[in-house]
Amino acid sequence: MDLEIKVDFNLGKELQKRLRELVPAGSHTYSKGEDQFPLISPGLIRNAKGSYCWDVDGNKFLDFGMGLRSVGIGHADDEINEAIIKQLSLGTNFTRPSVLELEVAEKYVELIPSMEMVKFAKNGSDVTSAAVKLSRAYTGRKYIAICKSHPFFSVNDWFIGSTPCSNGVPREVQELTISFDYNDIESVKNLIENYPGKIAAFILEPLKDEEPKNNFLQELRSLSEKEGSVLIFDEMISGFRWNVKGAQEIIGIKPDLTTFGKATANGFSVSVLGGKKEIMELGGLDHQHERVFLLSQTHGAEGIGLAASLKNIEIYLRDKVCEHHWGFGKLFMDGINKLAEKYSIQDFFSIEGYACSPVIRAKNREKLLDLKFHTLFQQELIKKGVLMPWIAFCREHKEEELQITLDACDHALNIYSQAIEFGVDKFLIGDAIKPVWRKYN
Ligand SMILES: Cc1ncc(COP(=O)(O)O)c(C=O)c1O
Repeated sequence: MDLEIKVDFNLGKELQKRLRELVPAGSHTYSKGEDQFPLISPGLIRNAKGSYCWDVDGNKFLDFGMGLRSVGIGHADDEINEAIIKQLSLGTNFTRPSVLELEVAEKYVELIPSMEMVKFAKNGSDVTSAAVKLSRAYTGRKYIAICKSHPFFSVNDWFIGSTPCSNGVPREVQELTISFDYNDIESVKNLIENYPGKIAAFILEPLKDEEPKNNFLQELRSLSEKEGSVLIFDEMISGFRWNVKGAQEIIGIKPDLTTFGKATANGFSVSVLGGKKEIMELGGLDHQHERVFLLSQTHGAEGIGLAASLKNIEIYLRDKVCEHHWGFGKLFMDGINKLAEKYSIQDFFSIEGYACSPVIRAKNREKLLDLKFHTLFQQELIKKGVLMPWIAFCREHKEEELQITLDACDHALNIYSQAIEFGVDKFLIGDAIKPVWRKYN
């Protein structure tokens, strides 16, 4: 299969420019934006199938972005499409809750042991923000402790106020978010000491790039319990990737609240807040406490997303999709890291982390992570028809796709080794990718 790009990106660039005039930053998610990709990149995508996508200029790419990790089976999957088409004929949004809501709620509660009740929404930020509000209401406290080793929890003020992009968030709100570090239980203890009886919740991704050390997660579980704070696992990425039931299934720890999103519905929009009944019920009708207005949205339980999610779960369990990610990921990591050795650049370039969701570590001559080198790696892969802004696997990444990836990486790492020797500016076309978290453009 020839994935070498055949045409340039002219139409893509032109349409990208038009979109940028109409939509701030030319994208509805900053991670998809122009400043996050090399200059020679597909501008706009027209369609996708399985693990491939096509841009408006007709170039075909092997895709590792997978819709910001939301597509875990494959783009435009036939079985998911069939389930959706069936739902289309039944209607998508009714005047009272649908029977599908019951069916999908039962499925999640049956699947994930920490979820005694659930509530559906459309985006991850909806549910992490709902978890934060619920924790504040449940504890009567105002501080939220976020894990600052993890980059993103929500577009909402409680989180964005803690980033360099805090413009528009009042200082009073910013001050309510405090932070601790992953694998640093002392940083958790310090927070508890400095804010005794005041922390409503601790929120983190249970597993990400680093392995937990010295029982960090068990200690955090026990400290938050002792302190009377809610423990929230944000499983937006780890859910349906490390395990269908989330990383909590692997580590054997039950959080009080969990948030799922991304790969819950193979690219359709479903996020899930789930957790202990005692906490979740505050958003319900069966208690005498002050009410919590918890996630009340027009499209919260629309049928297309839920039908896709139900089928998604069925396929994940039947086809062992997460096991596929682990297996494919191991071959992918080992193969690329061997190529780095082939070009003697293993100290400068590596694929690391968990095999089901590895990360690219692109370093410069000084062995420091460097966005110029990261951009160069992406640029050279794009020349070979591979789109890898980050690494997200789907079931349709198979043997042939592994070979295409390794061939493309062989080329890219050869160029990378020359860039280490002669300087990256000799090879990089256009600007380097910019950090998302920056105060100014
Ligand atoms: C860990 C984590 N939490 C929350 C979110 C927010 O999800 P959404 O973009 O669906 O609002 C993201 C999105 O990237 C995420 O990675």
